[in-house]
Amino acid sequence: MEYTNALVSRKCNPLKGLAIIPGDKSISHRSLMFGALASGETIISGLLEGEDVLNTAAAMRLMGAKIVKEGNQWRTRGIDKYGLKEPAEVLDMGNSGTSTRLLMGRVGGHPITAFFTGDASLIKRPMARVMKPLESMGVCFMAREGGKLPLGVKGAGSAKAIEYRLPVASAQVKSAILLAGLNAKGITTVIEDHPTRDHTENMLRHFGLNVETGVLEDGAHFIRIEGGQKLQGCAVDVPADPSSAAFPIVATLISEGSEVEFPRIGMNERRTGLYKTLEEMGADITYKNKRIEAGEPVSTLKVKGAATLRGIDVPADRVPSMIDEFPVLAVAAACAHGTTRMTGLAELRVKESDRLLKIAEGLKACGVSLEMGEDSLTVHGTGKPPLGGATVETALDHRIAMSFLVLGTRTAQPVRVDDGRPIKTSFPNFIGLMNDLGAQIGDA
Ligand code: S3P
Repeated sequence: MEYTNALVSRKCNPLKGLAIIPGDKSISHRSLMFGALASGETIISGLLEGEDVLNTAAAMRLMGAKIVKEGNQWRTRGIDKYGLKEPAEVLDMGNSGTSTRLLMGRVGGHPITAFFTGDASLIKRPMARVMKPLESMGVCFMAREGGKLPLGVKGAGSAKAIEYRLPVASAQVKSAILLAGLNAKGITTVIEDHPTRDHTENMLRHFGLNVETGVLEDGAHFIRIEGGQKLQGCAVDVPADPSSAAFPIVATLISEGSEVEFPRIGMNERRTGLYKTLEEMGADITYKNKRIEAGEPVSTLKVKGAATLRGIDVPADRVPSMIDEFPVLAVAAACAHGTTRMTGLAELRVKESDRLLKIAEGLKACGVSLEMGEDSLTVHGTGKPPLGGATVETALDHRIAMSFLVLGTRTAQPVRVDDGRPIKTSFPNFIGLMNDLGAQIGDA
């Protein structure tokens, strides 16, 4: 079979240098969405210019937002007085679940109708998890069977405030409800048994809103927001994305003699489960210059590679804080000594691909011994990189593509991925950055 967009990664020398990781995807989406709805100007530095975020910008523009790039900064002029305008075109969200689900909530709180669609990956992803709570707020939907895109949203003129306990740990669902709640009468409450990334809460505060958060008697976390509050434009300095940094960091760790520095990596504790896990596996990561920038903790990471990573059991309650990092953790586990057990992975089945399946298939094809369960993965590392030599099917999943290109930096035989295009959704300069450090990744 011939793949026109395939990439190949070959075994390389130790990685060395400084890696400037692009801006955090979650924070970039939110900075555009919130800035466009605030009064006054929002100036964003370090915005991720990946396709997913550009799709958010395009959708916001179709709904009346003024978003421009000037030099290195992005500026939004608020449309708070008028609210969102009904888009005359279908909103094509490409590969981006975050753009779709958050904007479904935002549109849901406005008296407008909008139609959403996406690429072959996005139209398979479940939207009912967002539709259900939004319907109880008065939003109407017309979707394909099973709550799939393309779908139409008829927003509620004045949404009904609700209290909702999340049935799955999902920051996107939490955020969609809170964003609809901004235009609701009364207090909207979201309760989460397993805390997920809190960028929506933190950033709404940064835009001047009063958001109450805390822990209930049963240990669940709550977020409360009163409708009718006005967002105020502000400056947002987007930290480097810890989920993107994970790829070159694992590539460094699995290559003895490698030494790479990663400045300004976001260290929000709801995002750093992978880092904790890698340290438990024996990774050599030093945190320097820890500080708070624009409300988010950031740090410079100094990472050294060694052939000493050990397999561990990853606690299931850590999963939400590293939900996007399992593909690359599985690569680290495949090179480690001993067995790594990962459980509580059901959500990986509904990411950009069935990620659990794609990780297992790809690793197996590269010669790794493993067992996959319904929501678990056990990887048996031998302490040496696996053989490689496979072409891995990525199913339009950027993180599967990058993970296997990382594995190919160590395997005796090159690793190919069938389609490298989705990497642009979250990490447009991934190949250039990796090759500058010494990797050998190119067209296959
Ligand atoms: C995100 C939340 C997570 C994550 C995604 C970004 C966000 O999705 O996987 O990459 O920015 O809110 P879920 O809410 O589906 O877990």
